[in-house]
Amino acid sequence: MSKLAIVYLSTQGSTKMMAEAIAQGAREKHIEVDINNFYEWDPADVVQYDAICIGSSTFYYTMLEPIAKFVDKLIEIGIDGKIGAAFGSYGWSGEAPVKIAEKLRNAGVDVIDPVLRIQYIPNEKDLAECIRLGKDLAIKMKKK
Ligand SMILES: Cc1cc2nc3c(=O)[nH]c(=O)nc-3n(C[C@H](O)[C@H](O)[C@H](O)COP(=O)(O)O)c2cc1C
Repeated sequence: MSKLAIVYLSTQGSTKMMAEAIAQGAREKHIEVDINNFYEWDPADVVQYDAICIGSSTFYYTMLEPIAKFVDKLIEIGIDGKIGAAFGSYGWSGEAPVKIAEKLRNAGVDVIDPVLRIQYIPNEKDLAECIRLGKDLAIKMKKK
C-alpha cells in the first residue's frame, strides 16, 4: 500500500492545522498517512514512504532552520523519484514552502505545483484547500 509522510514545523499551530487537513484529504482517498512534528520523525524512515509532504512557516524570509536541516538529511538518504508537496502558513512574504519545494525538486522529487501557502491562521476555506491538496497527493500516488 502506498504511504504518505507529512512532516511539519509550526510555532503557533497554523502550519500544524494545515498538515492535519492535508492528512484528512489523503485519508478520505484511502491513503495511509503518518503525520508528525519534524522532531518526532527519524529521517531514515523516509525510505518507507512513496510521498513526502513538508511544511514550515516562514521566519525571516525563509523556512525554519530545523526543517531545512531535516530536508537536507532526507536528501542525503535519497528521495529521488518520490512524490512531494510543500506547504506553510506565513505572514507577509511566505518564502518557506517555495524554498522547500525547490530543495525537493533539485533532489529529484515530483513536487505538486503550486505550493500551498496560507496567510496566518487558516479559515474554513483555507482548510478546504489543504484537504484538496491531500486528495491531489492521493490521486497522484494512486496513478504511480
Ligand atoms: C519573529 C517572526 C518572524 C517572521 N518572519 C516572517 C517572514 O519573514 N515572512 C513571513 O511571511 N512571515 C513571517 N512571520 C509570520 C509567520 O510566518 C506567521 O505568523 C505564521 O502564521 C506562523 O505559522 P506557525 O504557527 O505555523 O508557525 C514571522 C513571525 C515571527 C514571530
